[in-house]
Amino acid sequence: MRRLLDLADLGREEVLALLALAARLQHKAEPQALAGKILGLLFLNPSLRTLASFQAGMARLGGSSFVITPGQGTWQLETRAGAVMDGAAAEHAREGIPVLASYCDALGIRAFASGQDLAADLAETTFNTLAALTDKPLINLESAVNHPCQALADWKTLDDLAVAPTGRFVLSWAYHPRPLPLAVPAAVLHMAALRGMDVVVLRPDGFGLPEPIMAKARRAAALAGGSVRESNDRREALAGAQVLYVKEWAATACYGDAAEDARRRAALTDWCVREDWFETAAPECRLMHCLPVRRNVAIADAVLDGPRSIVQHEAYNRLTVQMAVLYRLLKGL
Ligand code: CP
Repeated sequence: MRRLLDLADLGREEVLALLALAARLQHKAEPQALAGKILGLLFLNPSLRTLASFQAGMARLGGSSFVITPGQGTWQLETRAGAVMDGAAAEHAREGIPVLASYCDALGIRAFASGQDLAADLAETTFNTLAALTDKPLINLESAVNHPCQALADWKTLDDLAVAPTGRFVLSWAYHPRPLPLAVPAAVLHMAALRGMDVVVLRPDGFGLPEPIMAKARRAAALAGGSVRESNDRREALAGAQVLYVKEWAATACYGDAAEDARRRAALTDWCVREDWFETAAPECRLMHCLPVRRNVAIADAVLDGPRSIVQHEAYNRLTVQMAVLYRLLKGL
């Protein structure tokens, strides 16, 4: 494996092998495996889990890491081709990324969606432009429409908790005061489909995931023997569900139109997950969310703090699966 940009690049067998390696490294430490190796982490957007878990994972394998957050102690970084750099950014990614790559053995980059142009975001225009600036081993730390490390951690969490591989997995939109990116819903939808689950995307009208994202998930489901469909009916979608995966995202019917998005979501504040959402679900139905989450806005305290919630397990598995990714990229085994 040279790069981890999208789980779809790996194929199901390679994903299963990575998950097995993650379990092995979790239970049998290899503190010298990556001795002398350096991971560079470039965050163009904020993070808690991704930043801390990659640094911790690298340290647990005997390597080291550095973190660059442009504009916070380092030069602001311009990413647009052809930009006239007479604003705040003093450095262009065309210089900055090759420089950073020359200091490390692998690089991770986080570059969120613009949220303005759906076609450009679906094409991963910004991330792909940055990725083309280095031939070093590269990890997608979350791009416009992908978050492979989150998806991998969530798959391992489902396996750890013996959630039935063919069980119903409901990916539900939840309220947030601002339009958030499509990266996590897209990656998690693909993951659940590739795991072979009975996947339902539960969302209000106007918030359907774009067709290329749905089509990619349907292809994964066809490979794995699962299924993917959409619903706007909460009780029907959640009937017999083993998992409710909650995520907030932008109104796709008016992508990039902040005023129209705000108007649509203002009527949807009841899309805050409460215990009564689970009335038709399986009794053991789990609650998942990638975090960070706004309490009592997207998910009520009682659900987040209750026995269904496995959000901490998901966050912990960011460490275990990323150790496997680093091991594969930097040790090649
Ligand atoms: N889930 C996730 O990627 O968390 P951070 O944004 O804190 O890294």
